[in-house]
Amino acid sequence: MAPSSSPPHGIEVARTRDEVRAFRLKLSREGQTLGLVPTMGALHEGHLSLIRLAAREADVVAASLFVNPTQFAAHEDFGSYPRRESEDIDMLAAAGCRLVYCPRLTEIYPSGDSTRVRVGALSEDLEGAIRPHFFEGVASVVTRLFAHLGPDLAVFGEKDYQQLLVIRTLTRDLGFPIRIIGGPTRREPDGLAMSSRNAYLGAAERKQAGALPAALEQACKRLADGEPINAVCEKAGSRLLAAGFSSVDYIEARHAETLSPLGTGSAPYGVPGRILAAARLGTTRLIDNLPFQRS
Ligand code: PAJ
Repeated sequence: MAPSSSPPHGIEVARTRDEVRAFRLKLSREGQTLGLVPTMGALHEGHLSLIRLAAREADVVAASLFVNPTQFAAHEDFGSYPRRESEDIDMLAAAGCRLVYCPRLTEIYPSGDSTRVRVGALSEDLEGAIRPHFFEGVASVVTRLFAHLGPDLAVFGEKDYQQLLVIRTLTRDLGFPIRIIGGPTRREPDGLAMSSRNAYLGAAERKQAGALPAALEQACKRLADGEPINAVCEKAGSRLLAAGFSSVDYIEARHAETLSPLGTGSAPYGVPGRILAAARLGTTRLIDNLPFQRS
Protein backbone atom coordinates (compact mmCIF):
# COMPACT_ATOMS: atom_id res chain seq x y z
CA MET A 1 0.00 0.00 0.00
CA ALA A 2 1.37 3.45 -0.91
CA PRO A 3 1.48 6.19 1.72
CA SER A 4 -1.76 8.14 1.71
CA SER A 5 -0.54 11.42 0.29
CA SER A 6 2.53 12.80 -1.49
CA PRO A 7 2.43 16.60 -1.62
CA PRO A 8 4.37 18.36 -4.37
CA HIS A 9 7.46 18.92 -2.23
CA GLY A 10 8.12 15.18 -2.15
CA ILE A 11 7.51 14.32 1.51
CA GLU A 12 5.17 11.39 2.01
CA VAL A 13 2.51 11.52 4.72
CA ALA A 14 1.59 8.18 6.26
CA ARG A 15 -1.22 7.71 8.75
CA THR A 16 -1.20 3.95 9.28
CA ARG A 17 1.25 1.25 10.32
CA ASP A 18 0.72 -0.53 7.02
CA GLU A 19 1.77 2.58 5.13
CA VAL A 20 4.97 3.10 7.10
CA ARG A 21 5.82 -0.60 6.88
CA ALA A 22 5.43 -0.46 3.08
CA PHE A 23 7.77 2.54 3.01
CA ARG A 24 10.34 0.73 5.21
CA LEU A 25 10.14 -2.44 3.08
CA LYS A 26 10.79 -0.49 -0.10
CA LEU A 27 13.87 1.14 1.45
CA SER A 28 15.18 -2.23 2.64
CA ARG A 29 14.81 -3.66 -0.87
CA GLU A 30 16.79 -0.69 -2.20
CA GLY A 31 19.46 -1.23 0.49
CA GLN A 32 18.81 2.19 2.04
CA THR A 33 19.07 2.93 5.76
CA LEU A 34 16.34 4.76 7.68
CA GLY A 35 16.74 7.34 10.46
CA LEU A 36 13.75 8.26 12.65
CA VAL A 37 13.09 11.47 14.60
CA PRO A 38 10.02 11.09 16.87
CA THR A 39 8.27 14.36 17.79
CA MET A 40 5.01 15.71 19.15
CA GLY A 41 4.97 18.46 16.50
CA ALA A 42 4.82 22.26 16.94
CA LEU A 43 8.27 22.06 15.44
CA HIS A 44 11.11 24.49 16.01
CA GLU A 45 14.77 24.70 15.07
CA GLY A 46 15.68 22.19 17.80
CA HIS A 47 13.59 19.48 16.11
CA LEU A 48 14.89 20.42 12.66
CA SER A 49 18.49 20.14 13.86
CA LEU A 50 17.72 16.50 14.74
CA ILE A 51 16.34 15.90 11.23
CA ARG A 52 19.58 17.25 9.74
CA LEU A 53 21.65 15.13 12.13
CA ALA A 54 19.65 12.02 11.13
CA ALA A 55 20.19 12.91 7.45
CA ARG A 56 23.96 12.86 7.98
CA GLU A 57 23.77 9.38 9.53
CA ALA A 58 21.10 7.62 7.43
CA ASP A 59 20.16 7.51 3.72
CA VAL A 60 16.53 8.47 4.37
CA VAL A 61 14.91 10.34 7.28
CA ALA A 62 11.41 9.86 8.68
CA ALA A 63 9.78 11.91 11.44
CA SER A 64 6.67 11.24 13.47
CA LEU A 65 4.12 13.81 14.62
CA PHE A 66 2.01 12.43 17.45
CA VAL A 67 0.88 14.16 20.63
CA ASN A 68 1.04 11.09 22.82
CA PRO A 69 -1.77 11.05 25.41
CA THR A 70 -0.17 8.42 27.68
CA GLN A 71 2.72 10.72 28.64
CA PHE A 72 0.39 13.43 29.95
CA ALA A 73 -1.32 13.27 33.36
CA ALA A 74 -4.98 14.34 33.55
CA HIS A 75 -4.04 17.79 34.91
CA GLU A 76 -1.36 18.40 32.25
CA ASP A 77 -1.51 20.18 28.88
CA PHE A 78 -2.54 17.38 26.46
CA GLY A 79 -5.65 19.32 25.35
CA SER A 80 -3.86 22.62 24.83
CA TYR A 81 -0.56 21.25 23.45
CA PRO A 82 0.05 23.19 20.17
CA ARG A 83 -0.97 21.27 17.01
CA ARG A 84 0.18 22.64 13.64
CA GLU A 85 0.35 19.65 11.34
CA SER A 86 0.49 21.27 7.91
CA GLU A 87 3.11 23.84 8.97
CA ASP A 88 5.14 21.04 10.56
CA ILE A 89 5.00 18.94 7.39
CA ASP A 90 6.28 21.88 5.30
CA MET A 91 9.15 22.44 7.76
CA LEU A 92 10.07 18.74 7.72
CA ALA A 93 10.07 18.68 3.91
CA ALA A 94 12.33 21.74 3.78
CA ALA A 95 14.74 20.07 6.26
CA GLY A 96 15.06 17.01 3.99
CA CYS A 97 12.67 14.60 5.68
CA ARG A 98 11.15 12.04 3.24
CA LEU A 99 8.37 10.48 5.33
CA VAL A 100 6.20 11.85 8.08
CA TYR A 101 4.17 9.43 10.17
CA CYS A 102 1.06 11.12 11.62
CA PRO A 103 -0.73 8.16 13.20
CA ARG A 104 -4.28 8.28 14.43
CA LEU A 105 -4.68 7.39 18.08
CA THR A 106 -5.86 3.83 17.29
CA GLU A 107 -2.80 3.07 15.13
CA ILE A 108 -0.65 3.52 18.24
CA TYR A 109 -3.14 2.36 20.88
CA PRO A 110 -5.64 0.00 19.18
CA SER A 111 -9.02 -0.32 20.77
CA GLY A 112 -8.68 -2.52 23.90
CA ASP A 113 -4.91 -2.00 24.01
CA SER A 114 -3.42 -2.81 27.42
CA THR A 115 0.34 -3.04 26.78
CA ARG A 116 2.71 -0.55 28.43
CA VAL A 117 6.50 -0.41 28.56
CA ARG A 118 8.12 0.54 31.86
CA VAL A 119 11.85 1.17 32.20
CA GLY A 120 12.97 0.51 35.81
CA ALA A 121 14.75 2.76 38.30
CA LEU A 122 15.87 5.38 35.76
CA SER A 123 12.20 6.22 35.09
CA GLU A 124 11.35 6.84 38.72
CA ASP A 125 13.91 9.54 39.46
CA LEU A 126 13.98 13.32 38.65
CA GLU A 127 11.31 13.87 35.94
CA GLY A 128 9.78 10.50 36.83
CA ALA A 129 9.47 11.43 40.51
CA ILE A 130 7.53 14.60 39.63
CA ARG A 131 5.60 13.14 36.66
CA PRO A 132 5.15 9.43 37.56
CA HIS A 133 3.19 8.60 34.37
CA PHE A 134 5.63 10.31 32.02
CA PHE A 135 8.36 7.83 31.07
CA GLU A 136 5.94 4.91 30.82
CA GLY A 137 4.03 6.95 28.25
CA VAL A 138 7.21 7.88 26.38
CA ALA A 139 8.59 4.31 26.45
CA SER A 140 5.23 2.90 25.30
CA VAL A 141 4.93 5.22 22.30
CA VAL A 142 8.60 5.04 21.25
CA THR A 143 8.50 1.23 21.38
CA ARG A 144 5.47 1.28 19.06
CA LEU A 145 7.10 3.78 16.68
CA PHE A 146 10.22 1.56 16.55
CA ALA A 147 8.05 -1.50 15.87
CA HIS A 148 6.04 0.22 13.13
CA LEU A 149 8.95 1.87 11.30
CA GLY A 150 11.92 -0.41 12.05
CA PRO A 151 14.50 2.37 11.70
CA ASP A 152 18.26 1.68 11.64
CA LEU A 153 18.84 4.66 13.90
CA ALA A 154 16.78 7.16 15.87
CA VAL A 155 17.72 10.64 17.04
CA PHE A 156 16.59 12.22 20.34
CA GLY A 157 17.51 15.58 21.82
CA GLU A 158 19.79 16.06 24.82
CA LYS A 159 17.27 18.76 25.80
CA ASP A 160 15.28 15.89 27.34
CA TYR A 161 18.37 14.21 28.73
CA GLN A 162 16.72 11.69 31.02
CA GLN A 163 14.32 10.72 28.21
CA LEU A 164 17.34 10.05 25.96
CA LEU A 165 18.81 7.71 28.60
CA VAL A 166 15.45 5.96 29.16
CA ILE A 167 15.21 5.31 25.41
CA ARG A 168 18.80 4.02 25.24
CA THR A 169 17.89 1.62 28.08
CA LEU A 170 14.68 0.32 26.50
CA THR A 171 16.40 -0.12 23.13
CA ARG A 172 19.13 -2.22 24.74
CA ASP A 173 16.77 -4.17 27.02
CA LEU A 174 14.23 -5.01 24.29
CA GLY A 175 16.98 -5.81 21.79
CA PHE A 176 15.95 -3.36 19.06
CA PRO A 177 18.75 -3.23 16.44
CA ILE A 178 18.52 0.56 16.43
CA ARG A 179 21.38 3.02 17.04
CA ILE A 180 20.26 5.81 19.38
CA ILE A 181 21.92 9.15 18.72
CA GLY A 182 21.71 12.19 21.03
CA GLY A 183 21.52 15.62 19.39
CA PRO A 184 22.77 18.81 21.11
CA THR A 185 20.27 21.29 22.59
CA ARG A 186 19.46 24.25 20.34
CA ARG A 187 19.02 27.53 22.21
CA GLU A 188 17.58 31.02 21.74
CA PRO A 189 20.07 33.93 21.78
CA ASP A 190 19.61 34.39 25.56
CA GLY A 191 20.39 30.72 26.15
CA LEU A 192 16.82 29.46 26.71
CA ALA A 193 16.51 25.94 25.30
CA MET A 194 14.05 25.91 22.39
CA SER A 195 10.82 24.14 23.32
CA SER A 196 7.29 23.91 21.94
CA ARG A 197 6.14 24.90 25.44
CA ASN A 198 8.03 28.25 25.33
CA ALA A 199 4.98 29.52 23.43
CA TYR A 200 3.10 29.41 26.74
CA LEU A 201 5.36 32.10 28.25
CA GLY A 202 4.07 35.68 28.48
CA ALA A 203 6.43 38.50 27.41
CA ALA A 204 7.66 39.22 30.96
CA GLU A 205 8.10 35.50 31.71
CA ARG A 206 10.00 35.01 28.48
CA LYS A 207 12.56 37.58 29.68
CA GLN A 208 12.87 35.85 33.06
CA ALA A 209 13.26 32.40 31.46
CA GLY A 210 16.87 33.09 30.44
CA ALA A 211 17.76 32.80 34.13
CA LEU A 212 17.43 28.99 33.89
CA PRO A 213 20.32 28.34 31.45
CA ALA A 214 22.33 31.14 33.10
CA ALA A 215 21.95 29.52 36.54
CA LEU A 216 22.91 26.10 35.15
CA GLU A 217 25.94 27.47 33.35
CA GLN A 218 27.17 29.18 36.50
CA ALA A 219 26.52 26.02 38.54
CA CYS A 220 28.59 23.94 36.06
CA LYS A 221 31.56 26.29 36.49
CA ARG A 222 31.29 26.03 40.27
CA LEU A 223 31.04 22.22 40.14
CA ALA A 224 34.08 22.06 37.86
CA ASP A 225 35.94 24.25 40.40
CA GLY A 226 35.13 21.72 43.15
CA GLU A 227 32.50 23.67 45.11
CA PRO A 228 30.26 21.25 47.06
CA ILE A 229 27.36 19.89 45.00
CA ASN A 230 24.74 20.67 47.66
CA ALA A 231 25.76 24.31 47.98
CA VAL A 232 25.99 24.81 44.20
CA CYS A 233 22.51 23.35 43.56
CA GLU A 234 20.99 25.36 46.42
CA LYS A 235 22.50 28.59 45.09
CA ALA A 236 21.22 27.86 41.59
CA GLY A 237 17.71 27.29 42.98
CA SER A 238 17.78 30.55 44.95
CA ARG A 239 18.92 32.38 41.84
CA LEU A 240 15.91 31.07 39.89
CA LEU A 241 13.47 32.11 42.62
CA ALA A 242 15.11 35.57 42.77
CA ALA A 243 14.73 35.85 38.97
CA GLY A 244 10.96 35.33 39.22
CA PHE A 245 10.51 31.54 38.91
CA SER A 246 7.58 30.46 41.06
CA SER A 247 9.04 27.11 42.16
CA VAL A 248 11.88 24.69 41.49
CA ASP A 249 10.98 21.01 41.09
CA TYR A 250 14.64 19.90 41.21
CA ILE A 251 18.20 20.94 40.47
CA GLU A 252 20.53 17.95 40.71
CA ALA A 253 24.09 17.15 39.67
CA ARG A 254 24.33 13.53 38.56
CA HIS A 255 26.57 11.04 36.76
CA ALA A 256 26.04 11.78 33.05
CA GLU A 257 25.66 8.16 31.93
CA THR A 258 23.66 6.59 34.76
CA LEU A 259 22.10 9.66 36.45
CA SER A 260 23.23 8.17 39.76
CA PRO A 261 23.86 10.74 42.53
CA LEU A 262 27.40 12.09 43.00
CA GLY A 263 27.04 12.82 46.73
CA THR A 264 26.92 16.21 48.41
CA GLY A 265 30.62 17.16 48.48
CA SER A 266 32.87 18.18 45.59
CA ALA A 267 32.20 16.42 42.28
CA PRO A 268 34.64 13.52 41.73
CA TYR A 269 37.55 14.18 39.37
CA GLY A 270 37.29 12.93 35.79
CA VAL A 271 33.68 11.72 36.06
CA PRO A 272 31.29 13.01 33.36
CA GLY A 273 28.51 14.91 35.14
CA ARG A 274 25.20 16.42 34.13
CA ILE A 275 23.26 19.06 36.00
CA LEU A 276 19.51 18.72 35.42
CA ALA A 277 16.76 21.13 36.43
CA ALA A 278 13.01 21.63 36.22
CA ALA A 279 11.37 24.84 37.38
CA ARG A 280 8.07 26.64 36.96
CA LEU A 281 7.56 30.13 35.64
CA GLY A 282 3.91 30.97 36.29
CA THR A 283 2.04 27.97 34.92
CA THR A 284 4.78 26.93 32.49
CA ARG A 285 7.21 24.19 33.47
CA LEU A 286 10.69 24.44 31.94
CA ILE A 287 13.42 21.78 31.96
CA ASP A 288 17.07 22.06 30.98
CA ASN A 289 20.44 20.41 31.58
CA LEU A 290 24.15 20.93 30.93
CA PRO A 291 27.32 18.82 31.12
CA PHE A 292 30.12 19.41 33.63
CA GLN A 293 33.33 17.70 34.64
CA ARG A 294 35.95 18.39 37.32
CA SER A 295 39.43 17.90 35.91
P1 PAJ B 1 9.07 16.68 21.56
O1 PAJ B 1 9.02 17.49 22.82
O2 PAJ B 1 8.29 17.15 20.38
O3 PAJ B 1 10.58 16.54 21.17
C1 PAJ B 1 10.95 15.76 20.05
C2 PAJ B 1 12.46 15.61 20.06
O4 PAJ B 1 13.05 16.90 19.92
C3 PAJ B 1 12.98 15.03 21.39
O5 PAJ B 1 14.01 14.09 21.14
C4 PAJ B 1 13.49 16.27 22.10
O6 PAJ B 1 14.52 16.00 23.05
C5 PAJ B 1 14.02 17.07 20.94
N1 PAJ B 1 14.15 18.51 21.26
C6 PAJ B 1 13.24 19.29 21.87
N2 PAJ B 1 13.74 20.55 22.05
C7 PAJ B 1 15.00 20.53 21.55
C8 PAJ B 1 16.06 21.50 21.44
N3 PAJ B 1 15.90 22.74 21.90
N4 PAJ B 1 17.23 21.14 20.86
C9 PAJ B 1 17.40 19.86 20.39
N5 PAJ B 1 16.45 18.89 20.46
C10 PAJ B 1 15.27 19.22 21.03
O7 PAJ B 1 10.20 14.55 23.34
C11 PAJ B 1 9.12 14.35 22.81
O8 PAJ B 1 8.57 15.18 21.86
C12 PAJ B 1 8.27 13.13 23.13
O9 PAJ B 1 8.48 12.76 24.46
C13 PAJ B 1 8.54 11.93 22.17
C14 PAJ B 1 9.98 11.41 22.30
C15 PAJ B 1 8.23 12.31 20.72
C16 PAJ B 1 7.60 10.76 22.56
O10 PAJ B 1 6.27 11.16 22.49
